[in-house]
Amino acid sequence: MSTVAVIAKASPETSIQQDVDCAIEDLLVSLPEPERLSAEERRGILSRYTAVLEGNFIYWMTAAYLSVQSEQARAIIVDNLLEEIRDCHPGMLRRFAIAANAIPTDSDAQEIYRDLTNVRLFVGRLSGARIVLMMAFFEGFLQRFMPFLAELATRQGSKEYEYTDVHGVCDIAHTAGLFRALEEEMALNPPQPETDLFEGVDLLRTLMRNIVHPVALGH
Ligand SMILES: [Fe+2]
Repeated sequence: MSTVAVIAKASPETSIQQDVDCAIEDLLVSLPEPERLSAEERRGILSRYTAVLEGNFIYWMTAAYLSVQSEQARAIIVDNLLEEIRDCHPGMLRRFAIAANAIPTDSDAQEIYRDLTNVRLFVGRLSGARIVLMMAFFEGFLQRFMPFLAELATRQGSKEYEYTDVHGVCDIAHTAGLFRALEEEMALNPPQPETDLFEGVDLLRTLMRNIVHPVALGH
């Protein structure tokens, strides 16, 4: 089958998933080589990552739950939330940061403040399919980000890998589940045609990029 025919047969969800994959690839290729980073640069990435994920992941997944109308989408998101809370993923992340000497400081929090606020304001608009899409991107990116994160921690002298091991595996199923949730929600409650489906993905991608490549304060 020619490429044109394959594209013509692709469902809207397939093309959305391809765009998300591109956004993830785009971030991954921008990652620096861990061996070329200074100890302070490694610590900064781990700390800013912790500052963003520890207190916001469950909040944003909860916003996805509150935003969707589809029962199937809700059930998928609830499973995700139950795992996060039952297995205490924020505690797991905190242990990871402590072991790598990367507990977030005030200035780490300040460096991600603006981009984090932009994601929070987007999430506050409770736009079902768009938040689910943002979270599908998030899970897909995190799963592939784990080896980089684990290597930074190793170079910081850590031997604590529960967080990166768990998220390198469970986020594969989570990503697939969220794409199913997106399909359900798009069928039942599609966003208005004039809205940008990828707004949350773009804001979160900017935030993730800033975790790795912080913009100097005041700029
Ligand atoms: Fe998690």
